[in-house]
Amino acid sequence: MENETSAVDGQAENIPEIIVPKASLPAFDHLLEDVTSKKTQHERNDPSHANLLRRRLAPPAIVPTIDGLGFTTARAKRERSISYTLFTARSRTRKLSCAAHESLFKTQRIEDSRRYRRAESQASCIMAGARVKAFAILCMVALCLHMADAQVRGLRVNYYQRSCPRAEQIIRTAVQNGFNSDPTIPAGLIRMLFHDCFVRGCDASVLLDNADSEKLGAPNANSLRGFEVLDAAKSALEAACPGVVSCADVIAYAARDAMEVAGTVKVPNWLGGRKDGSTSVSAETLTELPAPFSNFTTLQRAFERKGLNQADLVILSGAHTIGIARCGIILQRIYNFKGTGQADPAINPAYVQTLRNLCPSNAPGKQINMEMLTPTKIDANYFNDVQAGRGLFESDNALRTTPIGRSLVSVYRVPQVFNAAFVASMRKMASIGVLTGSNGKIRTKCNIA
Ligand code: HEM
Repeated sequence: MENETSAVDGQAENIPEIIVPKASLPAFDHLLEDVTSKKTQHERNDPSHANLLRRRLAPPAIVPTIDGLGFTTARAKRERSISYTLFTARSRTRKLSCAAHESLFKTQRIEDSRRYRRAESQASCIMAGARVKAFAILCMVALCLHMADAQVRGLRVNYYQRSCPRAEQIIRTAVQNGFNSDPTIPAGLIRMLFHDCFVRGCDASVLLDNADSEKLGAPNANSLRGFEVLDAAKSALEAACPGVVSCADVIAYAARDAMEVAGTVKVPNWLGGRKDGSTSVSAETLTELPAPFSNFTTLQRAFERKGLNQADLVILSGAHTIGIARCGIILQRIYNFKGTGQADPAINPAYVQTLRNLCPSNAPGKQINMEMLTPTKIDANYFNDVQAGRGLFESDNALRTTPIGRSLVSVYRVPQVFNAAFVASMRKMASIGVLTGSNGKIRTKCNIA
């Protein structure tokens, strides 16, 4: 793995190795069920539909569902979700060519046009072990784009179109202004969404002030940033449409805008309609947000509890492609890992030296860029770093400590794959535990319950 040539530019000859343990490749019929479960009545009565798919997807051994890998698609309303199909290039019997799949999906699309027009489908993601041509990765990603349904009751696109038509624009202006005065602010806003949604769902509990609020929790205190941008947005919203736009939506839209401002992708069809909660407890930040010292299993469980899978974990960790961290979090890791007096052996030695230069042992409060090459740009560089042992935290490095994690890290180094997957998982995260309808409220001031 260490000797791989980067396939990021899509031209490299040496291809990243995609290894998935056979044991984790689930049954073919599961995929077939996924694909056919949304059949129309007519199609349900027509067994040839299933047979057609069954023939096309054969042989079973190479068409696993990716449930176990965390690749099963979310259903996202009127949204494109992406799934990845990577195929072994070695064994003929275990290989389907890009062209074959293109024709499969095209044909399927025609046959199922009514279903697709209803914007409801699922994609399946397949990873199989072998060397994969970089162009095939991109090709498969393009082929596997599917319309899907988020099915989060109460959330919808253009939620404020009638009640506050300028709402999204107002939030965008606040984010753009924040970015203009501090190009690192998108990082704070994206992390704000993560810290809000993982604690009590995306209910803006992270913005509440009380004697024991989330803001005071260890992961947040003196660390979370972007409050002033959210306040500016909320003030402007209250002036334009009093009592209409929730603080939870302000956080979610601001994170969306932050992605666009700092990234290279458009994020269409972002959902609105979240309501605000009234409770905020500092201790919950410690139980719900994973620590930077976590291993893969701990991270996986923390994400699973929120309905996010391993693929979400890995791609969302890619948010560490932007933003800043305090040296205090890594001092032990680079100077005295587990009391050894040495750096964590998992860190690339050259990177240890870089980090020591940036973070003297007596400067815990100093801030450094989380990703050194393009610290204000959301891109796939983080995954090149992780693969090369340059993950800043143990939790970043943990992503390459399991076969599936390593495969995902390798796949997400491809910019197009990274972009689409990051957006898709951010959408998922922005829907965790939302309060909708009469289950929540609209706070007039985001810091007051
Ligand atoms: C997987 C588990 C994660 C851990 C253990 C973790 C931990 C951390 C830590 C310790 C920091 C530095 C904070 C500081 O020094 O004050 C940080 C920064 C950051 N994290 Fe994470 N994080 C995780 C996942 C995520 C996710 C899912 C996102 C968003 C999708 C995210 C976005 C960010 C961003 C953007 C920053 C930079 C913040 C800034 O510049 O203000 N992190 N993270």
